[in-house]
Amino acid sequence: MLSAPSRPVSHRNRAAIATGQPPRRSPLNLGLVSAPTENPTTTSEPAISESAVSAAVTAALTAISAAETSVALKAVRTEHAGESSPLAKLNALMRSVPNDQKAAAGKLVGQARGRVTQALTARESEIGAAEATAQLAAEAVDVTAAASTWTAGARHPISVLMERAADVFVAMGWEVAEGPELESEWFNFDGLNFDEDHPARAMQDTFFVEPTDAHLVLRTQTSPVQLRALLSRELPVYVVGPGRVYRTDELDATHTPVFHQIEGIAIDKGLTMAHLRGTLDHFVQALFGPEAKVRLRPNYFPFTEPSAELDVWHPTFKDGARWIEWGGCGMVHPNVLRSAGIDPEIYSGFAFGVGADRALMFRNDVKDMHDMVEGDVRFSQQFGMNV
Ligand code: DAH
Repeated sequence: MLSAPSRPVSHRNRAAIATGQPPRRSPLNLGLVSAPTENPTTTSEPAISESAVSAAVTAALTAISAAETSVALKAVRTEHAGESSPLAKLNALMRSVPNDQKAAAGKLVGQARGRVTQALTARESEIGAAEATAQLAAEAVDVTAAASTWTAGARHPISVLMERAADVFVAMGWEVAEGPELESEWFNFDGLNFDEDHPARAMQDTFFVEPTDAHLVLRTQTSPVQLRALLSRELPVYVVGPGRVYRTDELDATHTPVFHQIEGIAIDKGLTMAHLRGTLDHFVQALFGPEAKVRLRPNYFPFTEPSAELDVWHPTFKDGARWIEWGGCGMVHPNVLRSAGIDPEIYSGFAFGVGADRALMFRNDVKDMHDMVEGDVRFSQQFGMNV
């Protein structure tokens, strides 16, 4: 028997193509016929030998039975039965086998490939079955197990509503801002143009916090966020500020000492009441539906001039469509702009503040403020996430 091929056939053919000479044909030694020893050049030609074929088969079968997973088996298939596997290379040599030996060589290589393919198929179904069993075991559900009684709680509808409101403004390019609930008296009143003895300070029934000379209050409104936004940002400013506020009201069906407002302020060049009106119409439609609209009635607030009461036309109110008081608004007072170091001759703007709890009461027909503050999860769960 001759030695294994020293050069692959393809090299020889490539050389032939390069030189323009036809490839030299030499008899290949299959190990089935006697070697043509008279021509010494044939000793270096490739051969389909029994031992080469059986070595390739042995290597393939060993690798196949060692593969534990379908991924591993896929790699084995490529290596031992793929286009550049030893058996495929041996098969490629068939072209150069002399005609009288072709049948024997073909049988040898064909049977070898058949054995490898069969082994692959058998192992594939073994592994497939094992993997399916393992997956079933891993994904098993015990349908007889007792259900878990743990519940995840629910988000409070006011939090969800305030987030939703903020989103409406973020979609218009506004920023969301927050301020401290323990606020300095200056931000809550003085900077917003409330006089020292202004009746609004008493009207709002403020929680003053000791020591009194620290001049701290629980903020009575989200309007101080207006000033904080102006002081901390470059102009123009478009800011929405949802937040919690405090007044010394007794808790009853329609009042609570802790409630929530949504504040807005826009300062730019050339802003008018028309911009305020358009913004509010868009806002109420987003929260209350496409037929909702806003009505402004003259009113007084120290930090806006002119100022207006803000009513909402609520088409789906349960006792029939009607106007509902919702908050206040107006054009930001020049003194407020001056408090923030802004020249009112150059910049103007509008502001508004509305009640979040109140919105939930009239929109979702919540009749009693106790339900909002008592923290019974069943109240929140009724709203789901769709507030
Ligand atoms: N802060 C006011 C209140 O709590 C509501 C309000 C009125 C806010 C007019 C504003 C505004 O921004 O411009 O009653």
